Amino acid sequence: IAMAGVAGRLARRWCRSAVRSPLQVISFPSLQLHLSGTAMRASQEDFESAMNQVKLLKKDPGNEVKLRLYALYKQATEGPCNMPKPGVFDFINKAKWDAWNALGSLPKETARQNYVDLVSSLTASSESSSQVKPGADREQQEYENLVVTSEDGITKIMFNRPTRKNAISTQMYQEIMLALKAASKDDSTITVVTGNGDYYCSGNDLANFTDIPPGGVEEKAKQSAIMLRDFVGTFIDFPKPLVAVVNGPAVGISVTILGLFDAVYASDRATFHTPFSHLGLSPEGCASYTFPKIMGPAKATEMLIFGKKLTAGEACAQGLVTEVFPDSTFQKEVWTRLKAYSKLPPNSMRISKQVIRNTEKEKLHAVNAEESSVLQERWLSDECINATMNFLSKKAKL
Ligand code: COA
Repeated sequence: IAMAGVAGRLARRWCRSAVRSPLQVISFPSLQLHLSGTAMRASQEDFESAMNQVKLLKKDPGNEVKLRLYALYKQATEGPCNMPKPGVFDFINKAKWDAWNALGSLPKETARQNYVDLVSSLTASSESSSQVKPGADREQQEYENLVVTSEDGITKIMFNRPTRKNAISTQMYQEIMLALKAASKDDSTITVVTGNGDYYCSGNDLANFTDIPPGGVEEKAKQSAIMLRDFVGTFIDFPKPLVAVVNGPAVGISVTILGLFDAVYASDRATFHTPFSHLGLSPEGCASYTFPKIMGPAKATEMLIFGKKLTAGEACAQGLVTEVFPDSTFQKEVWTRLKAYSKLPPNSMRISKQVIRNTEKEKLHAVNAEESSVLQERWLSDECINATMNFLSKKAKL
């Protein structure tokens, strides 16, 4: 009776989710679960205890796993599938029948053992995910120059060098890459990049150029080009929706990579400035490709070659920014919206992003490689060295 009750409850729960989206039950990608292996020793007691654990799972294991549990339960209690095959439009019962029937003549004892193994793997993964699962705005990992938090399905990566206007130091480049890689694998559905303090980010830390390795400036330029390529590549390959919450002025590479974000929300205090020519440099972040595509070559030229600083409104009119909000309500409005978006089905969002971006990926990586190699030369040019020295000796600002 107890077993039948559990099976019934499971079935009712599947029905409820399947009513919302019947195809979900049959269209999930296949999940590889290690089900065999252990010796067949699960007792009836183990089996009943596993059934109770299923009820306590903190995280919905997904339709595919639930079907597997159903099939194993039926096989363990009734043996091979003995029901008539449901009609093709009876999606739910057909999916359940298929799962049970797929077990063929698996012995009852093996099915019982596999059920126990499956539940124990689910319990273990649910425990480990609840351990790493962040609580309310709890920091996930210590970074020196970032604050990374996860809440409401959103991982927020916040630049945290406000006294340097969030200029990106060499270490910070590495931390951003690490944080993005972690965010790509965590439980969140959306990743947000933002800045702490009055600036979003003042771009590359110009002091990065002063840390010269034993191999000399050529070696430094080479290392920097490799790091730049890896950094931008991490954005190109980022698999989830990536949103920039631009809380204030943005400069240099923090602007150019916006073309690789999926949405850009800006405070009306934000500005967008890429002063590459002023610094004897050339564009990075794939902007030489994305900006002309986004805003047309003429507008891109004004920004990337002549260094024209755009207001948030102008950047929005040119398609670089998704929407501008008054600074006074910026955080409230943007986060309310993002929290709503984060509840959308994560797999669907990822797949949509792939569909939108994948055709461009190869091209973007090629552009990134080319831009990085051009910059490797520019960093060694007199124009760049003089401009950097002028800034560092406080003779010049933007
Ligand atoms: N690299 C290194 N240090 C930077 C920096 C950067 N990109 N941006 C800001 N800082 C430092 C400033 O030197 C200053 O240091 P200090 O306190 O030791 O004097 C500190 O951060 C605060 O900035 P400050 O210049 O006093 O603020 P501001 O509001 O007057 O000006 C900027 C802000 C961003 C306009 C100005 O700092 C600037 O021009 N930075 C350079 C930006 C740049 O060229 N980026 C590279 C683009 S490719």
